[in-house]
Amino acid sequence: MATDLTLRPDTLALHADAGVERTSDVAPPIHVSTTFAAGDDEGLVYARQDQPTRRRLEAVLGALDGGHAVTFASGQAAATAALLHLRPRRVAIAPGGYHLTHAAIDALAPCGIEEVPLDAEVGAGDVVWLETPKNPTCELQDIASHAARARAAGARLVVDGTFATPVLQQPLALGADLVYHSMTKFLAGHSDALGGVLVARDQALAEGLRATRTVTGGVPGALETWLVLRGVRTLGLRVRQQTANATRLAAFLERRVARVWHPSLPSHPGHELAKRQMRGPGPILSIELGSEAAARALPRALRIFRDATSLGGVESLVEWRRKQDPHAPPALLRLAVGIEDPDDLEGDLARALEEVGGGR
Ligand SMILES: Cc1ncc(COP(=O)(O)O)c(C=O)c1O
Repeated sequence: MATDLTLRPDTLALHADAGVERTSDVAPPIHVSTTFAAGDDEGLVYARQDQPTRRRLEAVLGALDGGHAVTFASGQAAATAALLHLRPRRVAIAPGGYHLTHAAIDALAPCGIEEVPLDAEVGAGDVVWLETPKNPTCELQDIASHAARARAAGARLVVDGTFATPVLQQPLALGADLVYHSMTKFLAGHSDALGGVLVARDQALAEGLRATRTVTGGVPGALETWLVLRGVRTLGLRVRQQTANATRLAAFLERRVARVWHPSLPSHPGHELAKRQMRGPGPILSIELGSEAAARALPRALRIFRDATSLGGVESLVEWRRKQDPHAPPALLRLAVGIEDPDDLEGDLARALEEVGGGR
């Protein structure tokens, strides 16, 4: 089946790769070969350039975001390849968000790349970089208005859509040039594979990124590629359930803790924009307790939420965010909500908050 872009995302997640390789296997094979015999019909030569399992995954991810996908060994590998390829003089980006994105821009300073504030003037060849929703507080940025501004200046708009996934947000349709996801999170969905992807609206940009990837070498391994392909089949089911669970927990927690950050709540600064820009408020929420001591104690008191970094897997995780990000507020915890029964998640939080005290 050639990719039929009139199909809806849940169908594309299962079938967009159907015509990529000739096989009667219903489950995609894992190709582990690093090299291909001369004269290969499909034009395959060497796995750093291209290989069949990756072709399938890229067909699916490209279809889900409505562009051309190029996958990488991690989100960070994708972000640095994007910056190296685009070689902007300025990257306009808001403070906060995923801290290592700023570190990647900083690491590329010797290439003449400089971080500037999001609203700073940009020019031809520059990059406007949005992370929306933003890690860990889920604040939103207006994709369509930044796309118009970038286009008018001859700059490019890159959107890190890791928290929303293509299920809840379509940055390319809103005018972005490039969408970036850490595949490690919701796309893989089971906390068992590292990866990253860039999806370009323009095929020539995707080809350029692919050529850069061949040089920088950060391709995902065969097993990881296959795991993400397997995980992405259920992306819509998982993200919708996780979003419903997070929305219920946000309402429950708002009555019990000092502050809840989730776009479902009218108190969240992105509440109205989320209704316009997203198809749901998303599966991540953050809470602030009354004290740092209570925030440090809560992860150990929880029984279902595991005390671990990362997000997007089927199991619920909680993290005292300062452990990873030194700029995070001291009493802030990030909850990456999984697909467990929401009654059990709510019960776990109620009991643990009672135990540690200091919610407000
Ligand atoms: C929003 C966001 N973008 C990018 C990344 C980096 O992805 P990776 O860990 O796959 O390198 C992360 C990782 O936590 C993230 O949360």
